[in-house]
Amino acid sequence: MFDLSEVARELVAKGKGILAADESNSSADQKRLALYGIATGPEMRREFRDLFLEAPEIERYLSGIILFSETLDQKDDEDGLYFPESLKKRGIIPGIKVDEGLEPFPESPEETITKGLIGLTERVLEFKSKHNPGFTKWRAVIKIDGDRLPTTKALVENAKRLAIYAFEVQKAGMVPIVEPEVLLDGNHSRLRAREVITKMMHALVAAMEDQAVDMSAVIIKSSMALSGSESGHKDTPDEVAEDTLGALMEAVPASIPGIVFLSGGQSPDEAVANLAAITKAAHAKHAPWPLTFSYARAFQEEALIAWAGKQENFPVARQAFLKRLKEAVAALQA
Ligand code: G3H
Repeated sequence: MFDLSEVARELVAKGKGILAADESNSSADQKRLALYGIATGPEMRREFRDLFLEAPEIERYLSGIILFSETLDQKDDEDGLYFPESLKKRGIIPGIKVDEGLEPFPESPEETITKGLIGLTERVLEFKSKHNPGFTKWRAVIKIDGDRLPTTKALVENAKRLAIYAFEVQKAGMVPIVEPEVLLDGNHSRLRAREVITKMMHALVAAMEDQAVDMSAVIIKSSMALSGSESGHKDTPDEVAEDTLGALMEAVPASIPGIVFLSGGQSPDEAVANLAAITKAAHAKHAPWPLTFSYARAFQEEALIAWAGKQENFPVARQAFLKRLKEAVAALQA
């Protein structure tokens, strides 16, 4: 029998992490390509994916890559394989983002809830039969504003949707990554971020238990506990490690097979240094789950600058990506 927990364990296997390459088309165009002065549109997005997905030897560092639906039907430059096939051939598990983005939460319109439950069962079954991915992702976004936001209602509604999604995906034979991203934006303290992460994780675990999600076959994707980007405060890696692990160890049961971190707007250096400190502290505190990265932005920045949308820059751009990827893997050995 096909064992989902085994796939989950493979995703967080020692010394490997996950690449998030699942920006929606509009995010890829506006928040990536256009931001770096690169032309937009389907072909440029395909090249953007090829740059990262076809970089040499990434299979040594990556267990899985999260893709956006458009990429499933695009082919790589080198041997004309569909991207999911090309990844499988190299032993990397392809995953798929299955949420449909954010909308204002009617009961508190400054906050968001994630769309995509309508038609989810059919959508995941179709992805499964056409592309046979090993896992999926659903992202909820949690905004902090002093003690005012997030509201408990928004946390609970997002947790409930994450849990319904996780159950549906497991039923379809894939491992769900549940991602409640606590945003870095704002002037909150690191301790406030820790409090919100703890509360969100409690709500998420309770909702998954309610939905009868198999806890041994779900990966949690978390933010690190960081002072808000407008707080004027820079946390040390040890502080980040202390509060991130404090939140997770309080709220996440040992039955969860692994926790992965998003970079969330940290600089590439910060994302690596904080991961190293978290790894070290997790070891010292005997954290019960493997921890690793699932970064997008912290791996992309320098590569996109080097690429500048020109094919001839692929080798140097890929070197920039690989350098960061190797640093992140080295941070797991700390
Ligand atoms: O949903 C967010 C991505 O999966 C991770 O992206 O590392 O740029 O925060 P990030």
